Amino acid sequence: MEPYRIKVVEPIPITTRAHRERALAAAGYNPFNLAAADVTIDLLSDSGTNALSAEQQAAGLRGDESYAGARSYYRFRDVVEELTGYPHAFPVHQGRAAERILFTALLKPGQLSVSNTHFDTTRANVEILGGEAVDLPCQAAKDLDDDAPFKGDIDLDALEAVLSGSRDVAIVLITITNNGGGGQPVSMANIKAAAELARKHGVPFFLDAARFAENAWLVTQREPEYAGRTPREVAREAFRLADGCVASLKKDAIVHMGGLLAIRDPELAQKCELLLIATEGFRTYGGLAGRDLEMLAQGLVEVTEPEYLRARAEATAHVADLAAAAGVDSVRPTGVHAVYLNAGRLLPHLPPSLFPGFALATELYLAGGIRCAELGSLYLGELDDAGELLKAAPYELVRLAIPRRVYTKSHLEYVGETLAEIAKEPERVPGYRLTHAPKLLRHFNCRLEPV
Ligand code: F0G
Repeated sequence: MEPYRIKVVEPIPITTRAHRERALAAAGYNPFNLAAADVTIDLLSDSGTNALSAEQQAAGLRGDESYAGARSYYRFRDVVEELTGYPHAFPVHQGRAAERILFTALLKPGQLSVSNTHFDTTRANVEILGGEAVDLPCQAAKDLDDDAPFKGDIDLDALEAVLSGSRDVAIVLITITNNGGGGQPVSMANIKAAAELARKHGVPFFLDAARFAENAWLVTQREPEYAGRTPREVAREAFRLADGCVASLKKDAIVHMGGLLAIRDPELAQKCELLLIATEGFRTYGGLAGRDLEMLAQGLVEVTEPEYLRARAEATAHVADLAAAAGVDSVRPTGVHAVYLNAGRLLPHLPPSLFPGFALATELYLAGGIRCAELGSLYLGELDDAGELLKAAPYELVRLAIPRRVYTKSHLEYVGETLAEIAKEPERVPGYRLTHAPKLLRHFNCRLEPV
């Protein structure tokens, strides 16, 4: 049961299949081109799509909009310091701004950034600066059906090898939870061991902490040593193992906009502060309004409440169970922010060149007005200039990302029912062909047609 009730509601569009067919064709079959007004249940992202609490809204009204030294900044700073222990906390407008500032201060061309998995903007920020982003997911992550509890872990042997190798490593960055790797959590034992390795080699060790509370929740559930601990205690301990963090606060601060760059080392902090002021905003607001800082501070307190995290994890598991009951497999074990459907297995009649993940995501929209994102060969495969697939992605997945506190169990059951309808006759789902395939940021701008 959700540990909250609804006080403000927003109607959602209920549309016909004919309407959705027209809307999707006009969008070139790209869900990023759809107007949200044509979407019934929006599972495209859990980022910035959250519902505010009454306390957050009240805090927002108390926002101090002074240019420098606003009261709201000090509240934000105090909450971040209590949670993370980092003395230098910079607000930024969203996670990728923190990435850009940190890497600009830290990374020289030719150096490596090593991670369990870089999120795509994180990778892009490394590459734009001339660095190389190296992902070292653990072995268990490669088997989608493996129920290992911490498939977000970094491969420690591989990390040791890279750190002892000939290439210069600028940073070790652990993403919790591992969004690019099926939303899987990272164990505290793994964070500790990776931190020790990084320290031994004199390399800064950071967390990409966008979903720090969800990771902490899964640690309390899955790592025996942490069974009796609260998610906040676990999160506090995780932050203290690192030299700092970048975080998109659009996730686990349960708001619509915001990010964080927090650092222990005063010298690095000073470099980052200059970049912050030059490109984001003064150090006490970093591109955010006072009301945003207040809502972020309150959200960072609310997000570690065990009953909230329990209800959220159960809701996500419920979606995965409904899918499984309908014969649709998803990445095991289920994480918290999303369910990753195994479209490749559901649609074996579609080769990767006809984008089965994209086909399932499209069918969910046509059948039920449900918007979600493909994570398969369209997004991650290698294509030639004409849009023909050269190298398939390792898996053909669809991510159903669950916004925080937004949808009720009955909305999620509707998603399960729609999926079950599709799974009755999966062979009827058509494949897709690209009609426009830009080289950069393909998935945002491409257009397709059914085959
Ligand atoms: N790191 C992780 C792990 C993320 O999931 C994201 C964003 C970012 C960094 C970048 O943060 O969007 O605030 O600039 N993930 C969103 C998603 C977009 O849908 O998974 P941002």
